[in-house]
Amino acid sequence: MSGPSTYVPQTGFTRWLDSRLPLLRFSHDTMMTFPTPRNLNFWYAFGAILTFCLGAQIVTGIVLAMHFDPSGAVGAVPGSSLAFDSVQSIMRDVNYGWMLRYLHANGASMFFLAVYIHMFRGLYYGSYKAPREILWILGVIIYLLMVITAFMGYVLPWGQMSFWAATVITNLFSSLDQITGGIKAGSHIATWLWGGFAVGDPTLNRFFSLHYLLPFVIAGVVGLHIWALHVPGNNNPLGIDVKGPQDTLPFHPYYTSKDAFYVGLFAILFAFLVFFAPEFVGNPDNNIPANPLVTPPDIVPEWYLLPFYAMLRSIPQKLIGVLVLGGAIVTLAFIPWLDTSRVRSNRFRPLMKQFFWLFVVDCLLLGYCGALSVDAARFGIPMVWVARLGTAYYYAFFWVIMPVVGLIESPKPLPDSIAKSVLGNVAAAPAE
Ligand code: HEM
Repeated sequence: MSGPSTYVPQTGFTRWLDSRLPLLRFSHDTMMTFPTPRNLNFWYAFGAILTFCLGAQIVTGIVLAMHFDPSGAVGAVPGSSLAFDSVQSIMRDVNYGWMLRYLHANGASMFFLAVYIHMFRGLYYGSYKAPREILWILGVIIYLLMVITAFMGYVLPWGQMSFWAATVITNLFSSLDQITGGIKAGSHIATWLWGGFAVGDPTLNRFFSLHYLLPFVIAGVVGLHIWALHVPGNNNPLGIDVKGPQDTLPFHPYYTSKDAFYVGLFAILFAFLVFFAPEFVGNPDNNIPANPLVTPPDIVPEWYLLPFYAMLRSIPQKLIGVLVLGGAIVTLAFIPWLDTSRVRSNRFRPLMKQFFWLFVVDCLLLGYCGALSVDAARFGIPMVWVARLGTAYYYAFFWVIMPVVGLIESPKPLPDSIAKSVLGNVAAAPAE
């Protein structure tokens, strides 16, 4: 798709390097001349924004780790641990430690905000459809790794929410006992995860180790994700294929400048959160040291996991709840084959577009339900029933609506080409 390389080494050194390790040729072909559809809009900046987020999390995380003590051993503050105390010391004693920690904690929220926008964008424009199935599945793997990494990171400050979130989630594995009979595989998995018979010091240690490791695994999978993007090239808001050079622009300077502008805007929003509302997305209970003897009245995960938490809690039978939760993420990997439409972009799918927006509302509603206590009611309606309906719609959207609407809907006529749609009927000049 990107065609033969157009790189010409200019100096003796670059000629020497090019015949040994063609790094500059690779960067030139992937980041400079790469032919990119000329109609990519704002929503296409989120890939670059996510790359920025991953980099920021790794850099701030490495510096935080220099001051963090991953130990559940008793700390100086009554009832606290060395882990909890070291986080307090980062906030008070380490130069700019408060800034590092707030950048990292709020950075996780910004990362998830960006990834959700990126995923919904892909859903709306049908970017998961052939030939981009592997690109999408790599995305689902990245998302799953992000969830695991964020969950483990949240345990590290060893506050009340850290401890009890770890307890609730790791205990979910024990529900597998119900189907593994006398072997009790679920309990064995839980014990193995804890490194003991309950969440404790060894759990904190291994979560720290994995929390440090996984971002680098994510970076590796992102490399594959971008490789898989560069084979077929970008999809675009029209969802039609690139038909020739008149439909594309070189990535540099057109998209490097556009992406840089939006990364800058995103950084401003991020800075606003860090400097003006650093505790906005945090849970105040996590400023209380972990106490295995006191369960908080409501155990709530971070906002970005609330929709899944609502699904889990809406089902009284624990094992089924766990399967529904896991199935909700696994379902995402099947989307390329569940969507039967021959048209990619929802711009040309009037019926599917409505179901899509209903799906967005459904995810927000599930998130809202996840934040409430399990017996909450609104307007006399028990919210657990709203969560049940929301879960049903989540599954119906992918397993019923996507395949059926794809078959019965008559899409609107597609434009002849990207160039014609962008430039009208004026003959498009080929990209320089
Ligand atoms: C660390 C997380 C991620 C990074 C750094 C990342 C990076 C990128 C980049 C740079 C692009 C090209 C620019 C763009 O289209 O925005 C891209 C495209 C894409 N990504 Fe991701 N991505 C991540 C997560 C995900 C996830 C979780 C999914 C879906 C589950 C996903 C699905 C896609 C798809 C389908 C495209 C092609 C979009 C199109 O051409 O229309 N990505 N990604």
